[in-house]
Amino acid sequence: MLARVTTVALEGLEPRRVTVEVDLRSGLPNFTVVGLADRAVREARERVHAAILNAGLEFPARRLTVNLAPASLRKAGPHFDLPIALGILAASGQVPPAPLEHVAVFGELSLGGELRPCRGALAAAEGAARWGLRQLLVPVERLEEAALVDGVEVLGALTLGDAAAVLRGEAEAVAPTRARSARADEPAVLDLADVRGHADVLAALTIAAAGGHNLLLSGPPGIGKTMLARRLPTILPPLHRDEALEVTRIHSIAGLHTTGGLVERRPFRAPHHTISASGLVGGGAPPLPGEASLAHHGVLFLDELSEYPRTTLEALRQPLEDGRVGIVRGQRTAIFPTRFMLVAATNPCPCGHAPTRRCRCTEADLARHRRRLSGPLLDRIDLLIHVQRPAAADLARASPSTSERERHRVLEARARQEARLAGTAARTNGQMDARVLRETVVLAPDAERPLREAYERGQLSARGRDRTLRVARTIADLAGSERVRRAHVVAALGYRQDADVEQAA
Ligand SMILES: Nc1ncnc2c1ncn2[C@@H]1O[C@H](COP(=O)(O)OP(=O)(O)OP(=O)(O)O)[C@@H](O)[C@H]1O
Ligand SMILES: [Mg+2]
Ligand SMILES: [Zn+2]
Repeated sequence: MLARVTTVALEGLEPRRVTVEVDLRSGLPNFTVVGLADRAVREARERVHAAILNAGLEFPARRLTVNLAPASLRKAGPHFDLPIALGILAASGQVPPAPLEHVAVFGELSLGGELRPCRGALAAAEGAARWGLRQLLVPVERLEEAALVDGVEVLGALTLGDAAAVLRGEAEAVAPTRARSARADEPAVLDLADVRGHADVLAALTIAAAGGHNLLLSGPPGIGKTMLARRLPTILPPLHRDEALEVTRIHSIAGLHTTGGLVERRPFRAPHHTISASGLVGGGAPPLPGEASLAHHGVLFLDELSEYPRTTLEALRQPLEDGRVGIVRGQRTAIFPTRFMLVAATNPCPCGHAPTRRCRCTEADLARHRRRLSGPLLDRIDLLIHVQRPAAADLARASPSTSERERHRVLEARARQEARLAGTAARTNGQMDARVLRETVVLAPDAERPLREAYERGQLSARGRDRTLRVARTIADLAGSERVRRAHVVAALGYRQDADVEQAA
């Protein structure tokens, strides 16, 4: 007797259709799994065996062969347990085969026969919808997540016994409740109102948030750099639905997403400088997303930038350049998107006090520090901000703004950008490619002049010129101006030139 159950293998973020074929014939009791399965899948045998018995069902004492097709596709993860178990029950006549023709099945089993939540339910649901299957059967903990996908009915079950009863038509599946969002209604605890002084840094933070630009905060210790960066998410707009689905899918596959529902907040990832290159950009077998992908559509914050080993920062080159990383495993490549805002903070020198006279570093110290920062990253920084020690009077005064006020400005500037960029691949000025940039940012001669002069003085590279234009566009958007004027270009250059100079040094 042969039974077939449809399930999914995940290749990076992509669902691939897999058919679990279960063949049962007379012979000595035996249970083999074939079809390029990893260790977790081979271990499914033990879990499935115990789960079937503990669910009060019968484990056939015959020759049992499970084939995961197509054999060319690598199968990883524990979510093959449930489809294998249901395939065995179908092959042994304990559930009818007909309903399995239009249901995809996804879930891990405990030895006791309970269904356990596992990674990637959203991607599985997208696969089921794409393949035209009517239903997807998942552990109840993953119901809300899978139900985010339109076009497929999601069924939840608590145990293997329940799943079998649903297929027999003897019990109702658990239906998803209204898809909750994973944005817990926790009050925002951080606010820019906590930060005294730094009106200029706040202005730059708002520009970065409005246009999705990369930002480096450089300054002496203990003046609020980390504090400012951690408050950036409080002024970012919520995710669009398509972005939220993508973020949820990535976080689900990484096993970070435990609350069900949709992730609506922009991610803010702050990996420590001891992180490995593969932890940062993704890796492993099977490949899992790294911090750069977990920060997709959000912020990747590298605090104490000069502490990160050069090799770690080098690994960010491709994700920053292409907006995605490819992880090669054998003949196949898993692709993870990495469109994040890079925010970094650093001291300007090892002692932290350059360029003031309090700096006690040697020339060699300074040169080493500069070398660490330059190269892969400094080139991609749009806004370089020298954070100054706030004046004593400013520390006594109320903060110059609040998160609510700045967020409002950001939202307005984003609305302008989205209207202008409709029909292009970009949503923010920071995402404009060179062609869109040429078409959307046209400067009058007097606005062009400061750019040309900076370029001729060697203070601006060609890439730096484009980055300046994008930032100038955002400054104009925040000012409510459809034209990019000379003042906007000059302001953008002010955030940029130092970066090019340091780059050249
Ligand atoms: N401008 C400020 N307004 C209010 N509090 C501040 C300010 N600057 C620093 N603080 C206080 O000092 C603490 C340390 O600030 P923070 O960690 O942001 O400094 P930093 O610039 O990142 O220093 P380091 O270079 O050592 O990392 C903050 O948690 C906050 O309590
Ligand atoms: Mg700090
Ligand atoms: Zn120093």
